[in-house]
Amino acid sequence: KEAKLWGGRFEESVTDAVERFTESISFDKALYKHDIMGSKAHASMLAKQGLITVNDRDSIHKGLSEIERLIESGKFEWRTDREDVHMNIEAALTDLIGEPAKKLHTARSRNDQVLTDFRLWIRDAIDAIGVKIKYLQFSLVKLAMENEGVIVPGYTHLQRAQPVLLQHLLLAFVEQLERDAGRLLDCRVRLNFCPLGACALAGTGLPIDRFMTSDALDFSAPMRNSIDAVSDRDFVMEFLSANAITAIHLSRLGEEWVLWASEEFGFVTPSDKVSTGSSIMPQKKNPDPMELVRGKSARVVGDLVTLLTLCKGLPLAYNRDLQEDKEPVFDSVKTILGMLEVSAEFAQNITFNRERIQKSLPAGHLDATTLADYLVKKASSVD
Ligand code: ARG
Repeated sequence: KEAKLWGGRFEESVTDAVERFTESISFDKALYKHDIMGSKAHASMLAKQGLITVNDRDSIHKGLSEIERLIESGKFEWRTDREDVHMNIEAALTDLIGEPAKKLHTARSRNDQVLTDFRLWIRDAIDAIGVKIKYLQFSLVKLAMENEGVIVPGYTHLQRAQPVLLQHLLLAFVEQLERDAGRLLDCRVRLNFCPLGACALAGTGLPIDRFMTSDALDFSAPMRNSIDAVSDRDFVMEFLSANAITAIHLSRLGEEWVLWASEEFGFVTPSDKVSTGSSIMPQKKNPDPMELVRGKSARVVGDLVTLLTLCKGLPLAYNRDLQEDKEPVFDSVKTILGMLEVSAEFAQNITFNRERIQKSLPAGHLDATTLADYLVKKASSVD
């Protein structure tokens, strides 16, 4: 068995069960790009500060690029015995370039490293989700424009309330999505600070330049407090909260369309492209995608609850529990991207049954409020 990177003081190796239980490589390899990015910035800073030579820096950079290429072509061997993404890449770099690789971790701990990777990863995820939100908004606006002038019953308590323009209703979702995007951007601003230099928790006595790494990675500034930097996950909770709210909006949109597609309402017909059938009932055409949008919102909320529960009661500073922060984030992002994408496709593939909607309008005294207003105007001096 290969000695662990941290194995200097150990005489025995861990059991297989412990190794399997504590590994995170099976999921945190998703951070590889950002890990490499962070390591390159760190190596450049070490060289500028004279902590490693320029030659060391160059071979580290070259080696890391090669590793990135191997990973992207599927030729990189991810090893469980190397525990996590950070040690897999560092050990592979040592295999590849030898001595200089061992100097890369100078003035750095996996604790500040993992948070750097994670903040960078979430930053990109926010941008990707933002694009999908915009696209769904665009699809809803398009749908609204295609149905100009269509009047539908508006509901409160799911009872007929007042007539409204279909556009009015569709644009309500557009507004909600706009705030969802705004929440993500707020979160992005708050998370965009660089943990590098915090090291394990107490910073380092070595003469590093935290502003240089922070700038190189497009962070706003280094984090102020090193203990805070490696302890807290509020940026994760905030991100997952923003996703959870978005997911709930999408779930409500899903419910609206599932309801409207029912025989009882019959206000919309989803095209075949966004419907699925039944294995027993030949007549069925179900709006499954939107039902699943509604259903998957549960996961996204669950991911937030996982993080909140994970952090409750943890003492300062880093605790290994925190390794459990990754999978809920990956799950939340994958799920919300899918929900946004499918909602947009659904919006582009439904038809409003204008005749049916029109025919339904006389029922339920939708104009009662207008009539009441008319009587008020008649009895007063208002025109
Ligand atoms: N895989 C770890 C995580 O994701 C990296 C940090 C490990 N740090 C430590 N002191 N064991 O949290």
